[in-house]
Amino acid sequence: MYKRSVCSIVFCGFLLAAPGVALAVGNPVAGKALAFTCSGCHAVRGYRYLYPSNRVPKLGGQHAAYIVNALKEYKSGARPNPTMHANAATLTTQQMEDIAAFFSSQKGQSGN
Ligand code: HEC
Repeated sequence: MYKRSVCSIVFCGFLLAAPGVALAVGNPVAGKALAFTCSGCHAVRGYRYLYPSNRVPKLGGQHAAYIVNALKEYKSGARPNPTMHANAATLTTQQMEDIAAFFSSQKGQSGN
Protein backbone atom coordinates (compact mmCIF):
# COMPACT_ATOMS: atom_id res chain seq x y z
CA MET A 1 0.00 0.00 0.00
CA TYR A 2 2.80 2.37 0.90
CA LYS A 3 4.74 1.55 -2.25
CA ARG A 4 1.64 2.05 -4.34
CA SER A 5 1.03 5.54 -3.04
CA VAL A 6 4.66 6.47 -3.69
CA CYS A 7 4.32 5.25 -7.27
CA SER A 8 1.16 7.16 -7.90
CA ILE A 9 2.80 10.34 -6.71
CA VAL A 10 5.91 9.73 -8.79
CA PHE A 11 4.07 8.98 -12.01
CA CYS A 12 0.92 11.02 -11.71
CA GLY A 13 2.42 13.78 -9.60
CA PHE A 14 4.96 14.75 -12.18
CA LEU A 15 2.37 14.79 -14.92
CA LEU A 16 0.12 17.03 -12.87
CA ALA A 17 2.93 19.28 -11.74
CA ALA A 18 3.34 20.92 -15.12
CA PRO A 19 4.89 24.38 -14.93
CA GLY A 20 2.50 26.84 -13.38
CA VAL A 21 0.03 24.20 -12.28
CA ALA A 22 0.11 23.57 -8.55
CA LEU A 23 -0.99 20.28 -7.06
CA ALA A 24 -4.12 20.93 -5.07
CA VAL A 25 -3.48 18.25 -2.48
CA GLY A 26 -1.63 20.20 0.20
CA ASN A 27 -2.67 23.10 2.37
CA PRO A 28 0.04 25.79 2.23
CA VAL A 29 -1.31 27.57 5.32
CA ALA A 30 -0.97 24.46 7.47
CA GLY A 31 2.32 23.77 5.72
CA LYS A 32 3.75 27.13 6.69
CA ALA A 33 3.45 26.29 10.38
CA LEU A 34 4.87 22.81 9.82
CA ALA A 35 7.74 24.21 7.80
CA PHE A 36 8.95 26.35 10.68
CA THR A 37 11.60 23.84 11.79
CA CYS A 38 12.60 23.06 8.20
CA SER A 39 13.26 26.71 7.52
CA GLY A 40 15.97 26.73 10.17
CA CYS A 41 18.09 24.80 7.69
CA HIS A 42 16.44 25.23 4.32
CA ALA A 43 15.82 28.96 4.33
CA VAL A 44 19.21 30.16 5.43
CA ARG A 45 20.96 32.68 3.28
CA GLY A 46 23.06 30.97 0.65
CA TYR A 47 21.67 27.58 1.68
CA ARG A 48 24.59 26.70 3.85
CA TYR A 49 24.16 24.92 7.13
CA LEU A 50 26.61 25.26 10.03
CA TYR A 51 29.73 24.73 7.98
CA PRO A 52 30.45 26.64 4.80
CA SER A 53 31.00 23.40 2.92
CA ASN A 54 27.72 21.81 3.95
CA ARG A 55 25.09 22.87 1.47
CA VAL A 56 21.36 22.52 2.05
CA PRO A 57 19.01 22.18 -0.92
CA LYS A 58 16.71 25.05 -1.73
CA LEU A 59 13.06 24.13 -1.29
CA GLY A 60 11.29 27.38 -2.19
CA GLY A 61 9.70 27.09 -5.63
CA GLN A 62 10.40 23.37 -5.85
CA HIS A 63 7.60 21.18 -7.22
CA ALA A 64 5.32 19.86 -4.50
CA ALA A 65 5.50 16.30 -5.83
CA TYR A 66 9.29 16.42 -5.72
CA ILE A 67 9.31 17.53 -2.08
CA VAL A 68 6.75 14.91 -1.02
CA ASN A 69 8.71 12.17 -2.81
CA ALA A 70 11.97 13.23 -1.20
CA LEU A 71 10.37 13.27 2.27
CA LYS A 72 8.88 9.80 1.77
CA GLU A 73 12.23 8.48 0.65
CA TYR A 74 13.99 10.00 3.66
CA LYS A 75 11.31 8.58 5.97
CA SER A 76 11.56 5.07 4.52
CA GLY A 77 15.33 5.21 4.30
CA ALA A 78 15.30 4.76 0.52
CA ARG A 79 17.22 8.02 0.46
CA PRO A 80 19.76 7.75 3.24
CA ASN A 81 20.41 10.91 5.20
CA PRO A 82 20.30 10.86 9.01
CA THR A 83 19.41 14.54 9.32
CA MET A 84 16.48 14.40 6.94
CA HIS A 85 15.36 10.98 8.19
CA ALA A 86 14.97 12.53 11.62
CA ASN A 87 12.94 15.37 10.13
CA ALA A 88 10.72 13.21 7.91
CA ALA A 89 10.19 10.25 10.24
CA THR A 90 7.33 11.78 12.19
CA LEU A 91 5.52 13.44 9.27
CA THR A 92 2.28 12.02 7.92
CA THR A 93 1.61 12.03 4.19
CA GLN A 94 -0.85 14.89 4.68
CA GLN A 95 1.74 16.92 6.56
CA MET A 96 4.30 16.28 3.80
CA GLU A 97 1.79 17.50 1.23
CA ASP A 98 1.01 20.60 3.28
CA ILE A 99 4.70 21.42 3.68
CA ALA A 100 5.29 20.79 -0.02
CA ALA A 101 2.37 23.08 -0.91
CA PHE A 102 3.91 25.81 1.21
CA PHE A 103 7.43 25.52 -0.18
CA SER A 104 6.26 25.18 -3.78
CA SER A 105 4.27 28.39 -3.39
CA GLN A 106 7.46 30.27 -2.48
CA LYS A 107 8.37 30.84 -6.11
CA GLY A 108 11.14 33.25 -6.90
CA GLN A 109 12.08 33.88 -3.30
CA SER A 110 15.61 33.37 -2.18
CA GLY A 111 14.89 33.10 1.53
CA ASN A 112 12.05 31.29 3.30
C1 HEC B 1 19.20 20.22 10.52
C2 HEC B 1 19.02 20.80 9.19
C3 HEC B 1 17.76 20.40 8.42
C4 HEC B 1 16.46 20.48 8.83
C5 HEC B 1 15.90 20.96 10.18
C6 HEC B 1 15.66 20.03 7.71
N1 HEC B 1 16.46 19.69 6.66
FE1 HEC B 1 15.83 19.01 4.82
N2 HEC B 1 17.76 18.72 4.26
C7 HEC B 1 18.86 19.02 5.02
C8 HEC B 1 20.05 18.58 4.31
C9 HEC B 1 21.50 18.71 4.80
C10 HEC B 1 19.60 18.01 3.09
C11 HEC B 1 20.45 17.35 1.98
C12 HEC B 1 20.44 15.87 2.31
C13 HEC B 1 20.96 14.99 1.19
O1 HEC B 1 22.08 15.20 0.78
O2 HEC B 1 20.20 14.09 0.76
C14 HEC B 1 18.14 18.14 3.09
C15 HEC B 1 17.34 17.72 2.03
C16 HEC B 1 15.97 17.93 1.97
C17 HEC B 1 15.14 17.67 0.81
C18 HEC B 1 15.62 17.14 -0.54
C19 HEC B 1 15.81 18.34 -1.45
C20 HEC B 1 16.48 18.01 -2.74
O3 HEC B 1 16.48 18.89 -3.63
O4 HEC B 1 17.01 16.91 -2.91
C21 HEC B 1 13.88 17.99 1.15
C22 HEC B 1 12.63 17.90 0.27
C23 HEC B 1 13.90 18.46 2.52
N3 HEC B 1 15.20 18.42 2.99
C24 HEC B 1 12.79 18.89 3.21
C25 HEC B 1 12.81 19.25 4.56
C26 HEC B 1 11.62 19.52 5.33
C27 HEC B 1 10.20 19.51 4.77
C28 HEC B 1 12.02 19.78 6.60
C29 HEC B 1 11.14 20.06 7.83
C30 HEC B 1 10.16 19.04 8.16
C31 HEC B 1 13.47 19.70 6.62
N4 HEC B 1 13.90 19.36 5.36
C32 HEC B 1 14.27 19.97 7.72
C33 HEC B 1 18.87 19.65 6.25
C34 HEC B 1 17.76 19.88 7.04
